[in-house]
Amino acid sequence: MNRFALASAVGLLMLGGGCGGSSTSVTSPPPPPPPTASPDVRADYLVSQMTQDEKVQLVHGGVTTSNPVTPHGAAGWVPGIPRLNIPDLYLADGSVGVGNGVGQATALPSSIASAASWDVNEAYKYGKVIGSELSAYGINVNLGGNINVIGREPRDGRTFETKGEDPVLAGKITAAHLKAIQDQYVIAGIKHFSLNDQETGRGQANVLIDDRSGRESDLLAFEIGVQDSGVQSVMCSYNLLNGTYACENPYLLTTVLKGDWAFPGFVMSDWWATHSTAAAANAGLDQEQPNDTYFGNLAQAVQSGQVPQSRLDDMVHRILRAMFAAGVFDHPASLHAIDVSGDDAIAQEAEEQGAVLLQNNGLLPLNGSTLSSIAIIGSHADTGVLSGGGSAQVTPNGGPALTEGNPCPPCWATVIWDPSSPMTAIQAKAPGANVQSNDGTNASTAATLAASSNVAIVFVSQWASEGMDLPSLNFTDVIHSTPIDQDALVAAVAAANPRTIVVMENGGAQVMPWLNQVAAVLEAWYPGERGGQAIANILFGSVNPSGKLPITFPASVNDLPRPTIAAPPDSTSIFNVDYTIDGFNVGYKWFDTKNITPLFPFGFGLSYTTFSISNAQLITNLSSSNPNFQVSFSLTNTGSVAGAEVAQVYLGLPAATGEPPKRLVGWQKVLLQPGQTQNVTIEVDENDSSRPLSYWDVKSLEWQVADGEYSVYLGNSSRNVNLVGTITIGQ
Ligand code: NOJ
Repeated sequence: MNRFALASAVGLLMLGGGCGGSSTSVTSPPPPPPPTASPDVRADYLVSQMTQDEKVQLVHGGVTTSNPVTPHGAAGWVPGIPRLNIPDLYLADGSVGVGNGVGQATALPSSIASAASWDVNEAYKYGKVIGSELSAYGINVNLGGNINVIGREPRDGRTFETKGEDPVLAGKITAAHLKAIQDQYVIAGIKHFSLNDQETGRGQANVLIDDRSGRESDLLAFEIGVQDSGVQSVMCSYNLLNGTYACENPYLLTTVLKGDWAFPGFVMSDWWATHSTAAAANAGLDQEQPNDTYFGNLAQAVQSGQVPQSRLDDMVHRILRAMFAAGVFDHPASLHAIDVSGDDAIAQEAEEQGAVLLQNNGLLPLNGSTLSSIAIIGSHADTGVLSGGGSAQVTPNGGPALTEGNPCPPCWATVIWDPSSPMTAIQAKAPGANVQSNDGTNASTAATLAASSNVAIVFVSQWASEGMDLPSLNFTDVIHSTPIDQDALVAAVAAANPRTIVVMENGGAQVMPWLNQVAAVLEAWYPGERGGQAIANILFGSVNPSGKLPITFPASVNDLPRPTIAAPPDSTSIFNVDYTIDGFNVGYKWFDTKNITPLFPFGFGLSYTTFSISNAQLITNLSSSNPNFQVSFSLTNTGSVAGAEVAQVYLGLPAATGEPPKRLVGWQKVLLQPGQTQNVTIEVDENDSSRPLSYWDVKSLEWQVADGEYSVYLGNSSRNVNLVGTITIGQ
């Protein structure tokens, strides 16, 4: 029986009785609502029982100068209130696996690889690994769910944590991660709200963007992520938006998030991103992290009338409500070992589904039995695979294969190579071959080895991290004091042996000056702690690649909306980052609008088989209340091996709306045996959280479907589509 149940059983206590004196009756607290009551009702009850000091305790982190260490290696901690059975909150990072500091955990492939699977079921498994492992470590709040960047700035050092440039794909993949995490009774988080799309000067960057552009791009990704997952926490970002810090921005936190989207959970600040007490609280911030610099003063701010008591109560209600909704009260985390082998299998599958084959002149897949010699060159491929740095860094199971210092910037994140040797996995696929490695530091010795080998596999890598942006989109060595020129390395190896395959370990888009010289290119992203095995399985055809790019690979940084990243003049001044240049035309929408040919388009990825689409039909069912349509077609595997294709539906809005030529509105990943045909129907429903037919109308402040002609396209990348038909609305 818990404390509340005991109080309820005792009921009315008789005090002051005894030796014939007069008795006084005191009403004990009302009974708590049963566990079947709604999270709101349960939260309201607790709020009604709390003192003002207890309320203030819940709205800020417990990390202070005198108490700098958080239990469980967490990044943040909110002490609970034992008197009311309110448990402690332990907050830990985890965009690509349980964050550094907590303990060894499964290093998943980067989140962008999960997005490249274009498979929400696969993404759910990915999130389940994160949630179950956090819970095994006693963590009950996740700080993952990074949905920034959205392709505005492909050099952003955190691109690997994110889900690409399309708000619908990113929103749906993120929602699957978050739902899976909360299904493990861990409060999930989505971050960094919002428009924190570059790391350079992130705390001083004043993002300029108009309401419509924001709502149709970065905010739409958050909206889908929030609505589809039921996520209970949102982390506001370091940057300013149109002159106001995100964590005290009433437009972001109250008008959009809590108003238009009816978000019922709580907003926490990014670490030290709170800048005020009353302004932040009144704007909609519910919890300061990781300490109490501003929200420690909330009782005084309420007493002086600067913050209404109702706002403080709402802040506390939202935090408690989130705890009830996610199951933190009813299903407390219990410490236990993580399922390393089960989670490793998911890590490998996520990589096998998310790696993207960008080029293949027929050399792949390799046949291990016909190769007598293989050269493995560069990127410590004899030892491990690269991971991304910063707060999303995972300490892999078994510990890092190799660490390589702390590049500056960001100066604080360690370069970690996960313990999964591609060379060992490749040798296992070609047991009869002489597999030799070269570290790639000297292009001429690498070329000599390549010349004497049947095939050369060059691993190129680009380390990136929170706290930095990349100097370019070339493979730039930011790790070593004497940088390795990886572009020159690939060119030298390819000149020595045309049977050269490039495997890329990186977090986002890259340019490839050597592309025409090599036989094949595999985008492996940061492939996680089973990356070596997954890469070998793809190179040797045990797995047929099916990933598709969730971001555009430009041919040059000069093709980006901002060829140079905006930078602050000093370490304190606010500076503008102008997103009015691209507005809602992010990623492929920018390239389509400007008619620029990318190196590789959004949605692109090769397979070892071929597919054909036939009998494509547009089925409309339009009414003003539900303007939805379907695209049905037959998809055939016309090759000789099993494989999966991602069929993609794009929509062009009426020209008068000023929208880009097309937007992604639906897709389906279909696995087919050789020769197999499957009839597929993709539904596009305006009632979906992505509002596929709408634009944001700044007059009515609502989503609107414009009158006019809509073009429906079907294909397998944003640049390989056919018109299926047109829809006319309202004319
Ligand atoms: C700052 C990062 O921006 C955020 O993503 C992270 O969750 C916190 N630090 C806590 O580590």
